[in-house]
Amino acid sequence: MNIPNHVAIIMDGNGRWAKAKGMPRNYGHVQGAKTVEDMCEIAWNMGIKYLTVYAFSTENWSRPDDEVNALMKLLRNYMKNCIKRASANNMRVRVIGDKTRLDEDIRKSIADLEEATKDYTGLNFTIAINYGGRDELRRAVKAISEEVKAGSLEPSDITEETIAMHLDTAGLPDPDLLIRTCGELRISNFLLWQISYSEIYVTDVPWPDFNKEELVKACEAYSGRTRKFGNVLK
Ligand code: FPP
Repeated sequence: MNIPNHVAIIMDGNGRWAKAKGMPRNYGHVQGAKTVEDMCEIAWNMGIKYLTVYAFSTENWSRPDDEVNALMKLLRNYMKNCIKRASANNMRVRVIGDKTRLDEDIRKSIADLEEATKDYTGLNFTIAINYGGRDELRRAVKAISEEVKAGSLEPSDITEETIAMHLDTAGLPDPDLLIRTCGELRISNFLLWQISYSEIYVTDVPWPDFNKEELVKACEAYSGRTRKFGNVLK
């Protein structure tokens, strides 16, 4: 099987999964966070080198306060506890998104985690928090404009590479496979620039039930496809 180098996941369906069990939505998020932990190990053991997950979008702030607070609490705990697990698994952790809107303590945990794991050579695990593809492009355009204004960059020298280098994902390869759980056929503002040539796989399985068998199915579907980069078949 041809294993994708970089898998990105839109982890949908936590709420519906919980509701189907007669439980509150937040129970679905707690279970979803456990699935994230399992998936890091499973993905690495399958030969996947980069895993990127959509944990909190720029749109998620409009959810009810108690749900936003519960998600932030989950992410806060996750960041604190992740250093130990990342060290045990040699996993490098990065966070993409606009961190300026996050609470100070979460920003500090993220900075500590990124610093502590920066030399690890196992799975490259990236978590998108307060992330939106349009907002990421807006911030990149702003940064590029500032360089032009300062005179350090000529507009005629702006290439696709210049844009890629100013995105949160600078230095990461583009995803080969984008998985969305729980059935919706949408991109939801995730990695808009980076998924230009990614293969897309949608499963009806809600995120808390996603497991090794489901990841293998997604990779098998990917493996059976002929990929096209622009007009070039690979
Ligand atoms: C979508 O389900 C999921 C989210 C908005 C949050 C994803 C967060 C996690 C999986 C947990 C935290 C992550 C980490 C990295 C620790 P939904 O609530 O939109 O489900 P629904 O569409 O069924 O309502």
